[in-house]
Amino acid sequence: MKLLVLNGPNLNLLGQREPDVYGRTTLADIEQQVRELAGKLGAEVDFRQSNQEGELVTWIQQARGTADVILLNAGAYTHTSVALRDAISGTGVPTVEVHLSNIHAREEFRHKSLIAAVCKGQICGFGATSYLLAVQASLSLSNKK
Ligand code: DQA
Repeated sequence: MKLLVLNGPNLNLLGQREPDVYGRTTLADIEQQVRELAGKLGAEVDFRQSNQEGELVTWIQQARGTADVILLNAGAYTHTSVALRDAISGTGVPTVEVHLSNIHAREEFRHKSLIAAVCKGQICGFGATSYLLAVQASLSLSNKK
């Protein structure tokens, strides 16, 4: 199984960014944890981050035929991006929406996810563990285990 893990804007700042909300774990730490778990489950990982919406759109498009499941933390684009939503539905690759924080328990503008309806499911609120839960969830979405 090939997992494409995509991280959106400002997630490169994890560890120093609002630690009371996002914790002290860096994106590199999360990548390591994801690789460790995926390795145990026999999955391959391609882990990326971009601050640019268009780059994320391109990566989602390219996932068709190259990834079995996409794990996507779209950051703030979750709440604004019709382009990401269209890329997910257009590519047809099963996608799991991931967030470190519980977006439903935060400011009202974060309660709405424009990508939720085209994702297989949403995992939020468990910090770095959200990513690990998403890796596990992706097993049931892929027929190549
Ligand atoms: C986030 C939640 C978003 O609302 C926010 O804009 C982020 C991070 C999360 O992982 O909790 O950048 O996606």
